[in-house]
Amino acid sequence: MNPLRPAILAAAGSPRMKRMLTGIPVTANIVRRFVAGETRDELIPVVRGLLGSGRMISVDFLGENTTDRAQADATLAEYLSLINDLAVLDDGRSGAAARIEVSVKLSALGQALPDDGPATATENLRILCAKAGQAGVWVTVDAEDHTTTDATLATVHAVRAEFPWLGAVLQAYLYRTEADCRELSGAELRIRLCKGAYREPRAVAFQRASEVTDSYLRCLDTLMRGAGYPMVASHDPVLITAAQQLAVETGRGTDRFEQQMLYGVRDTEQLRLAAAGTAMRVYVPYGDQWYGYLTRRLAERPANLAFFLRALAGDS
Ligand code: FDA
Repeated sequence: MNPLRPAILAAAGSPRMKRMLTGIPVTANIVRRFVAGETRDELIPVVRGLLGSGRMISVDFLGENTTDRAQADATLAEYLSLINDLAVLDDGRSGAAARIEVSVKLSALGQALPDDGPATATENLRILCAKAGQAGVWVTVDAEDHTTTDATLATVHAVRAEFPWLGAVLQAYLYRTEADCRELSGAELRIRLCKGAYREPRAVAFQRASEVTDSYLRCLDTLMRGAGYPMVASHDPVLITAAQQLAVETGRGTDRFEQQMLYGVRDTEQLRLAAAGTAMRVYVPYGDQWYGYLTRRLAERPANLAFFLRALAGDS
C-alpha cells in the first residue's frame, strides 16, 4: 500500500483541496484515465468497446454520501435509465454470469439520510434490483467506510431474500472480514473481495500492505473453497495468481468465479486474462461526482500522483 495514502486521503477531504482540484482544466485529462465520462452518452461507447473485447462490465454511477432525499431519488432514477441503456447492449451471449452489472453505493441511495437512511437505501435498492432483474442485469453493492459495514450487509441480506443474485463487497483490510467471509461463504452468495480503499483507523483495519495482502489471501482461500461466487477484485499479480491457482486446486471452473479490475488500470492484463478464458469484469465509473473516486485512485499509487503533479506543473 502506498505509504503516502493516509496523507493523500486526508488532504483530499479538505473542501479547499476539492475546489482547487476540480477547478483546474488539467484535472479533466486525469479524470478521463479512470472515469468513462460524465454522462451516459459518453459512457456507452466505452462500455461497447469493453464488451466487444470479451470483457464483462460493472457500471458505477458516481456519487456518495447523499444527505438529501431528492438527491437519493435522482440517483435511483439515473440507475433505472442506465439499466435500460445497458440492457440493449447485451448480445445474449452470457453463460452463467450476467455480462452486464451495475455497482451501487448505498450512501448514494440515501443510507446517510438523517431520519430513515438505512430504510430508504434498502427500499431504493429493492426498486433497483427489481428493474435489473427484469433486464437480466446483476447488481453489486459497494463497500464504503467501516462505519457503514453492518448497515450495508444488513441491507444486502434483506434484499437478497427477494433477489438472490445481489452481490456484496468485502474489504480485506478490515479485521472483521475474515470472519465475514467464513460466515458468508457457506451460501451461494456473490462476494466481491477487494483490499479496501478508505482511510481506516488501526482499531479496525490492517495498516501495512503486507498485512492487507495476507488477509486478502486468507479471505480468498475461504471464498474459493466455499459455495458462493467469488469476484476477485484486485490488480495485484500475487492475488490474481493465487485466485487462478485456487481455482485449479478446488476444481472451480471459469464460470464459477471472476477476476475484476478498475477501468483504466492494467488494461493489457485485463485483456490477457480475458483471452485466456478467465471471466474478466471491468468496474466502469461515470458521472460528474468523480472527486472522491479519483482521489482514492491517486492515493493507491504514487505513480498516479506523480503523473498528476507533473501535469499540474505543465510538464505533461
Ligand atoms: P494494490 O493497490 O496493491 O495494487 C497492485 C498493483 O496494481 C499496483 O502495483 C499497480 O500496478 C496496480 N494498480 C493498483 N491500483 C492502481 C491505480 N489506481 N492506478 C494504477 N495502477 C494501479 N474498494 C472499496 O473500499 N470498496 C469497494 O466497493 C471497492 N470496489 C472495487 C471494485 C473493483 C472491481 C476493484 C478492482 C476495486 C475496488 N475497490 C473497492 C478498490 C480496492 O479496495 C483497492 O483500493 C484497489 O483495487 C487497489 O488495490 P489492489 O488490490 O489492486 O492492489
